[in-house]
Amino acid sequence: MKFFLDTANLDEIRDAASFGVLDGVTTNPSLVSKEGEQKGFKDLVREICEIVKGPVSAEVLSTDIERMIDEARDLAEIHEHVVVKMPMTEDGIKATKIVSDEGINVNVTLIFSPSQALVAAKAGAAYVSPFVGRLDDISEFGMEMVGDIVQIFDNYNIKTEVLVASVRHPLHVVEAAKMGADIATMPYKVFKQLLKHPLTDIGLEKFLADWGKGK
Ligand code: E4P
Repeated sequence: MKFFLDTANLDEIRDAASFGVLDGVTTNPSLVSKEGEQKGFKDLVREICEIVKGPVSAEVLSTDIERMIDEARDLAEIHEHVVVKMPMTEDGIKATKIVSDEGINVNVTLIFSPSQALVAAKAGAAYVSPFVGRLDDISEFGMEMVGDIVQIFDNYNIKTEVLVASVRHPLHVVEAAKMGADIATMPYKVFKQLLKHPLTDIGLEKFLADWGKGK
């Protein structure tokens, strides 16, 4: 299973990349605007690509097909690792089909149902991003949607990767892995939580204390 970081913060990305287990990054307009205006959007995306050396999702801001296509082509020019994020709208799907046919990798975002994921895959998306946390927030089972998408893609040998998004805690990642999802994109905090267990810390402390006693 691949780990992506869901952030546009360069310090977080550098730190996560230093573990050697980071496969990619996803950004969205909210995450980018949180980082302020110190760097232009394109420079920021380029720098993330250079740190991660793997797929980096950058989202279009237009909502009409012509401008989405122009933006997608523009974003894809930034770096070979750029994946263009398109929203799951009618124009987003039409634009996905056109730019995917040109060889641009597209991540269809804001997916909240298996039917949306299936349409996005048929349009040629390289990735679909089902948002689990936001479904949980409205008392629906986000992970059930992921299980359904994985099963449907398996049934038809669909190559589109299932990129579990809106991850809120380590159990979302574990559940996604059990279901066979290809990728989980997670906030930095969740990435760090994956490594932790209190018994590991207690165990190490005891090993070191016992070693000291023997000296
Ligand atoms: C995915 O690519 C999105 O950026 C992200 O996972 C959204 O997460 P949120 O629901 O925590 O905003």
